[in-house]
Amino acid sequence: MHRRSADAAPLTAPAFRDRKGAGPPLVCVTAYDAPLARLAERAGVDAILVGDSLGTNVLGYDSPVRVTIADAVHHTAAVTRAVTRPLVIADLPFMSYATLDDALHNAGALVQTGGAAAVKLEGSTEVADITAGLVARGIPVMGHVGLTPQSVHALGGYRAQGTNLPSAQHVADGARAQANAGAFAVVLETIPARLAERITAAIPVPTIGIGAGPGCDGQIQVIYDLLGFSGDDLPQHAHVFADVGDQIERALSEYARSVLDSEFPAERHGFKMKRGVIDRVRFD
Ligand code: KIV
Repeated sequence: MHRRSADAAPLTAPAFRDRKGAGPPLVCVTAYDAPLARLAERAGVDAILVGDSLGTNVLGYDSPVRVTIADAVHHTAAVTRAVTRPLVIADLPFMSYATLDDALHNAGALVQTGGAAAVKLEGSTEVADITAGLVARGIPVMGHVGLTPQSVHALGGYRAQGTNLPSAQHVADGARAQANAGAFAVVLETIPARLAERITAAIPVPTIGIGAGPGCDGQIQVIYDLLGFSGDDLPQHAHVFADVGDQIERALSEYARSVLDSEFPAERHGFKMKRGVIDRVRFD
C-alpha cells in the first residue's frame, strides 16, 4: 500500500492553500465515520470531506438535499475524533447557508461541535458574499462549482456542466468569485478537463477535481465509489480501486451459511462457567 510520510502535524487550510503549484497533487476523499476516516489518514490523504454525499451513501436518503445540519454535525464529529493530520472539511447542507446569518450559525456548529477545520459550500458568484462573510469571521471555506448536487433540481439532473459557452463562463466566473471571496480551494465537479485546466491556471488557490480531468491541483472522490459500494450508480468519473463491497457481501453470506449449518459459533467462541454453578441457577 502507498503510505505517505507519517508527519502527524495537522494540515491547516492555509497550508492546504499554499500547496498551489508546490509539490505533489492534493489527495482528498470523503468519509463519514471514524473507521474509514482512520484508514484514509493511514493511507496519507491530505483532506477528508464530510460531504453531503453522506445522505445517499450512508443515511439512505434519495438525495443529498435531505441531509440536515444535525446529520452533518454528527458525522463530522465522528470523523474529527478519529484523525489528526488530514484537514477535515464539512459540507454545509442544502439551505443551511441561504443567508449569512444561517451560514454563520451552521458553519459555527460544524466547527464548534463537529470539530471541522473548514467548511465547503456549493455555488458560483451568487454565494461569494457568503464565502466572504464566513472567511471574515475566521471560518475557512472551500468553494464548489460545476455540477453542484444541491442544485440538482435546477440543473435538471446530474449532468456535466461547462460544456457550452454560457455554462463554461458561469463555472469560470464562479471559481474566480470564490477565490476572490477568500476560499482556500475550489472543487470543480464534472466539467470538461480543458475548462478545469484553464481555471486551475487562472485562480490563485488549489482546484480539487472530481470528474474534471488530471489538470487540477488535486483530486477528490467519494469513498464508497472507490471502494465498490456504489453498485450500478457509479459515476462515469469514478474508479473502483478495490471491490470491498463484494468482499463484504461474500463475508456476510459465509456468516449466514455457517450459522444455518451450525458451524458458527464454535466452542472457541464461547465462555466457560465455574464448575457446579449451572446446577444452582434457577430457571423457573
Ligand atoms: O458531498 C460530496 O461528496 C461532495 C464531493 C463530491 C466533492 O461534495
